[in-house]
Amino acid sequence: MTILVTGGAGYIGSHTCVELLNEGYDIIVADNFSNSHPESLKRVAELTGRLFSVVKLDLQDREQVEDLFSHNEIEAVIHFAAFKAVGESVENPLKYYQNNLAGTMVLLETMNNFNIKKLVFSSSATVYGKEARMPISEIEHTGAVNPYGRTKQMIEEMLIDLYKSDPAWSMAVLRYFNPIGAHKSGRIGEDPSGIPNNLLPYIAQVAIGRRDQLIIHGDDYETKDGTGIRDYIHVVDLAKGHLKALEKISLQCTYETYNLGTGKGYSVLEVVAAFQRASGRPIPYTIGSRRSGDLSICYADVTKAKTELDWQSTIEMDEMCEDIWRWQQQNPEGYESSTSTAIKEA
Ligand code: WQD
Repeated sequence: MTILVTGGAGYIGSHTCVELLNEGYDIIVADNFSNSHPESLKRVAELTGRLFSVVKLDLQDREQVEDLFSHNEIEAVIHFAAFKAVGESVENPLKYYQNNLAGTMVLLETMNNFNIKKLVFSSSATVYGKEARMPISEIEHTGAVNPYGRTKQMIEEMLIDLYKSDPAWSMAVLRYFNPIGAHKSGRIGEDPSGIPNNLLPYIAQVAIGRRDQLIIHGDDYETKDGTGIRDYIHVVDLAKGHLKALEKISLQCTYETYNLGTGKGYSVLEVVAAFQRASGRPIPYTIGSRRSGDLSICYADVTKAKTELDWQSTIEMDEMCEDIWRWQQQNPEGYESSTSTAIKEA
């Protein structure tokens, strides 16, 4: 079974490609490398001992997308490709609406034209509104509060309408909580460009000496230690959830939404302590002001994925930090520092 993985060179995409290849799937990766590096796919091939096609393309280029589908026997799609920085989406919403929505529409229209109607969609817990009750279950109303989250919410609504119009579609929407961690080998991991927006890559860069200190965005929340609480899930656990979703949509036509989280919350200070244990390095920090748009607490009810996908997270916080630290130590400058040639483009 050949799976098209859009955005497969990215953080979650590359880890999912490893699991797909190890499971025996054939894959084709389509990526424009705007926020990822071809080196990650070279390492995916090394880690799995398997070769696969890589097509450099932008999903907004309809001709290229149609060409991809006409020259390959694609049976299902896992759609990761999107811009995903909340702050940037606030500053430049049109860039996010154009890229995330237009790219997805071209993909869906092409899938429809080629009668390929199995889709796993990479969504995000950011679609839930501020009023969501904890732990958040899939029946909570959506109410994204930033343009990035709204693109995910709009695409989910597009998919629902598409399924209602043609129940031959089979789709699983996966709402990620906070993906962190790295492959055990340390060969692939999270490689943000510029100053990391997210907590763990920033902490890892403090530990390795690339950043002086962590600024903790507020310690006056109504939480155990005043700092924000989130549901951090290991990226490999997350990747395995995609394979379970792929199995589910291949068995029967359906439209279902699943939270992919651990069901547990950790505060910023607890994460800092865990990373200090994992790295043996001090993580100096100062308390700054709250970051606009931040929730105090956000963690998942993961019952549905457990019962319907037979999936649950397995990796705990300390091990997540150990895996990040191994990746950071082996790749102090991320993929950029690698000297290997870019992967052969198909
Ligand atoms: C986690 C906690 C911060 C950085 C974001 C997106 C979401 C999803 C996951 C795409 C919060 C605190 C962080 C720092 C800090 N991405 N923090 N100092 O905001 O929960 O979710 O990433 O789907 O859409 O919103 O993750 O890692 O940015 O923050 O104190 O330098 O760490 O306040 O409490 P977040 P995060």
